[in-house]
Formats: sequence, structure tokens, C-alpha cells
Amino acid sequence: MTKTLIRARLLTFQSEPLAADDHASYAYEEDGAVLVEAGMIIASGAYADVARNAEGAEIVDHRPHLLMPGFIDAHAHFPQMQVIASYGTELLDWLNNYTFPAESEFGDSAHAARIAGAYLDELARHGTTTAAVYCTVHPQSADALFAEAEKRGMCIVTGKMMMDRNAPQALTDTPQSSYDDTKALISKWHGKDRLHYAVTPRFAITSTPQQMEMVQALVREHPDLHFQTHLSENHAEIALSRDLYPDAPDYTGIYERYGLLGMKSLFGHCIHLSEREADALSDSGSVAVFCPTSNLFLGSGLFDYLRYRRREKPLRIATATDVGGGTNYSMLRTMDEGYKVIALQGEKLNPLASFWQITRGNAEALSLADRIGTLEPETDADLVVLDARATPPMRLRMARAETLAEELFVLQTLGDDRAVVETYVAGEAVKGSI
Ligand code: GUN
Ligand code: ZN
Repeated sequence: MTKTLIRARLLTFQSEPLAADDHASYAYEEDGAVLVEAGMIIASGAYADVARNAEGAEIVDHRPHLLMPGFIDAHAHFPQMQVIASYGTELLDWLNNYTFPAESEFGDSAHAARIAGAYLDELARHGTTTAAVYCTVHPQSADALFAEAEKRGMCIVTGKMMMDRNAPQALTDTPQSSYDDTKALISKWHGKDRLHYAVTPRFAITSTPQQMEMVQALVREHPDLHFQTHLSENHAEIALSRDLYPDAPDYTGIYERYGLLGMKSLFGHCIHLSEREADALSDSGSVAVFCPTSNLFLGSGLFDYLRYRRREKPLRIATATDVGGGTNYSMLRTMDEGYKVIALQGEKLNPLASFWQITRGNAEALSLADRIGTLEPETDADLVVLDARATPPMRLRMARAETLAEELFVLQTLGDDRAVVETYVAGEAVKGSI
């Protein structure tokens, strides 16, 4: 088996950085290397140490660029690639006017395969190596994304959407068919290579209580699976959800009643939570997913990241693009907008914390940190190589940057896909081949 020695400046996180000078939270090597074999990191650290065990390895030299674990996107919709940049609406009208018509086309397997391939290409171009993704209601759409991800050796978390009301007929299933189709997809894909199934009811508005019971049955039968849905994104959405489930104490209480909170439960948005709802998420270890570009674009509201982290019962948080409510595939652009959302609330997210969040932080939120999100030996070799001088404005700005934290902040504030020199999925360079 051939080995590859990838030489670069290295950065990996050990814990959540509490400040821009929290040097204990990360490991940085000015002249570092990662040794890769059979898709795995077998050693990483100072070049001089790692090179000693790398006899016969192919050498790739990325100096002076910065290598870190590949980015992780904790919430996106691949069937919304042709919806991104749709003008002028808030959530519910945006779903009805733009999203549902586009999603209706995914009963066509050829269309689903084409968009799934284009989507994973876009992830690679932007340095994202894993994503938790929503498909459409059609099982074909999940088949298409799983098949494309398998072909590329990617770690993907996804599942067919479940929705049996408040949507066009082409986009609805039934409680029984959603259960049966999900079961079939789980046995076909979950645990194959690097593929993870997520039970995926869209949100309370598009699932009847009967379908929620089926969701509960699925989660009980497969407690190891991820679960993903939307929660508390927009005031009209919250009001309609409460009308549809009048017996629940609040929006979170709807999912809670069906046993859907837990360590592998990912709740997109979570902007307008009450203290009771935040406590319920925290007590159960559920994850609130921050989608800044989407929350701004749809005018949904400001996610209070630092208050959620610092409250007596802190929330587990992930960050995500939410393409196509979100407006960019890049986790750099996402954290730039996230920084501004937090700034509007009078706080600042330090640049180390941003890069922790989109690597190890999101891996921990997805319960996948034993496989991805760090440069630890015996984990999967999903990597990104970044150039903070990729464009003329970045070069000018970098001429005055002195610290690693400043370099990261330049990457986040001015960077996009042009700053991604290379992306490695299971040790294979994939950006160059698109
Ligand atoms: N809530 C339910 N479905 C969606 C969706 O597709 N995008 C966003 N942003 N919110 C949702
Ligand atoms: Zn979403």
C-alpha cells in the first residue's frame, strides 16, 4: 500500500478555544507533515519526526500553506442547488414558491444523480469533506446522494425527507410509506463504507402526528442513527407548528413528545428558543445548528451563539451553510457571516473558535470526532489546505498579519473557494480533479 507524506504548516484543535490567545486548545506545526496510508492518517506532527517513518512515501509539499482537518457542514439541502439566490421571501413563502417546485423534480433519478454529483463537487471545491444533508421525500434522491458519496469515499450523513402534509402531492409520502422507505434505505446504505443514515422528517408543519409516531418508531428501532429536522427558525413557522400541535408546551415540545431529542439529534436553526426549550435541548444533549447565511438571507433572526454556549445549561452547537436557504457553500463564508451575527449581539467569536467549530466542533456535534475533525493518527484522512494569500486583497492584508489567529481571521473574512488549495477525502486529493 502506498503512503503519502503531506508536508505543510499544520493546525488541529484539542479543545474549544476560549480566547484568541488560548494556545493550549490547539497544536500547530510550522514545518509539519501528515502521513497517510489507505485513507487514514497514520502519523502527524513535526515533519522531522513524521518523515522518519515515511520511507518510500510519495511526498506532496504544500508549504507555506496551512493544512487542517477538512471542514464539516452540519446542515444543507443538496436538492436546493437551483434554489439558492431566490429573491424576496421569508421561510414559508420561500418553501412554497421556490423550494417545493425544485424538490418536486427529484423523483427523476437521473436529475437526482446529476445534482448530487454537482453538490459533492462543490463541497470538495470549498474544502468541505463531510456534510449532514437533507434529500427530498423521494427515496431516489437519497439513493443518488449515497451512491455519489460512496463513489468518492466520503463520510456523509443523510436521509430521505419524511413529509405527509402541507406540501404538493409530488412531495408527500404517507406515515407507512415513509417508514417503509426509510427502513429500506437504512438497510441499503447505513454503515456501508463511510455512510450514515439520518432519520429526516422535514419539520412539524409537514408531518402529521401519525407520521411523527412512525418517526418515533424508527428512532427507537435504530437508536444509533442520526436524527435531523428544523426547529424555531421563523415566527410564522413557530405559530403554525403550535397550531398544528396544540397540546405541546412549545415547538421543541412537539419533537420531545415523540422521543426525538438526544445526542444524535440535529436541530436546524433554533433561533427563537425559550429558556425551557433550550434547557430541554441541553438536558438531552441535542445539537442546535447555527446557519448564519440562511438566517440572514431569509430574515429569520439572530442565533445567540455565545449566550447558548455560556448559559448554565450550555447547548451543543454545530454550524452549517443550510444551502440553499443559505447563500454560500463555503464554511469560511459561513463563519464570516456568523461572526457578524454574533457581533450584532455585542459579542465577538474568536478566530480560533471559528476554525475549531467547523472542524473538531462540528465533528463532536455529529458524534463523529473519533473518525474526522482532527489530525489524530488512526482517523480518516479528510484534510483541507488553505492559502491566506490567495487573492490580491488577501495578500495585502496578510502583509500586516503577525499571528496565527490573525491569519485565520483573514481566511474567514476574505476567503472563499479560492483560498482552498486542495481538499483530501480519505487521503485522495479531490479539488484538483474537478
Ligand atoms: N424548514 C423546513 N424546511 C426547510 C428548508 O428547506 N430550509 C430552511 N431554511 N428551513 C426549513
Ligand atoms: Zn434546512
